[in-house]
Amino acid sequence: MPAPVVRLIENEDIPGAAAALVEVHATDGYPVEGVSDPEEWIRPSGVIQAWVAETDRVVGHVAISRAQGEDAVTLWQAESGEDEARIGVLARLFVVREARKNAVGEKLMRAAMGYAQEHRLRLVLDVMTKDSAAIRLYERLGWKLIGEASHGYGNGQQIPAVCYVWPAS
Ligand SMILES: CC(C)(COP(=O)(O)OP(=O)(O)OC[C@H]1O[C@@H](n2cnc3c(N)ncnc32)[C@H](O)[C@@H]1OP(=O)(O)O)[C@@H](O)C(=O)NCCC(=O)NCCS
Repeated sequence: MPAPVVRLIENEDIPGAAAALVEVHATDGYPVEGVSDPEEWIRPSGVIQAWVAETDRVVGHVAISRAQGEDAVTLWQAESGEDEARIGVLARLFVVREARKNAVGEKLMRAAMGYAQEHRLRLVLDVMTKDSAAIRLYERLGWKLIGEASHGYGNGQQIPAVCYVWPAS
């Protein structure tokens, strides 16, 4: 496999990113709500910027979205009083299994964190507690736990999640 490159997403990447997402759902059950419309899931309303990791195809993705009242945003605002306009929500991080354990997830995260630093945005995220590889990655990169949440999906189902912030101060 060629060495992965992380770069800003372009419209032409969306079908490839959607195909990678369908693969991750099959191997990891992420996202837990399923992938009935993977292209819409890749490009929801409110995306500020997104990145893909590419080898000979799209193998990973991450995005920063505007804060829209998510649990992580509420938790961070309660702790800090920070204005919602200064908060970005890091979301939709995934890497296909074949490309994992090669720092692709870390490179995607560093791209998003670099953007946040440049634009003076605080980042928050929520992650389901079952996604332990992602939690290890966030903690390794200095993200700070700010509380617990519950990820609602489907027909009123709930799954435990935790929320993080970066930078922590
Ligand atoms: C979370 C996720 C994106 C991580 O992707 P990744 O590309 O494997 O991430 P990295 O390679 O940066 O780090 C993963 C592990 O590989 C290790 N690693 C990185 N480069 C390595 C190398 N060259 N050789 C050996 N190990 C390496 C890291 O130390 C890390 O180890 P750890 O899990 O024991 O802490 C991926 O597992 C995934 O898509 N999971 C499913 C979706 C998901 O949970 N998304 C989170 C939503 S909130």
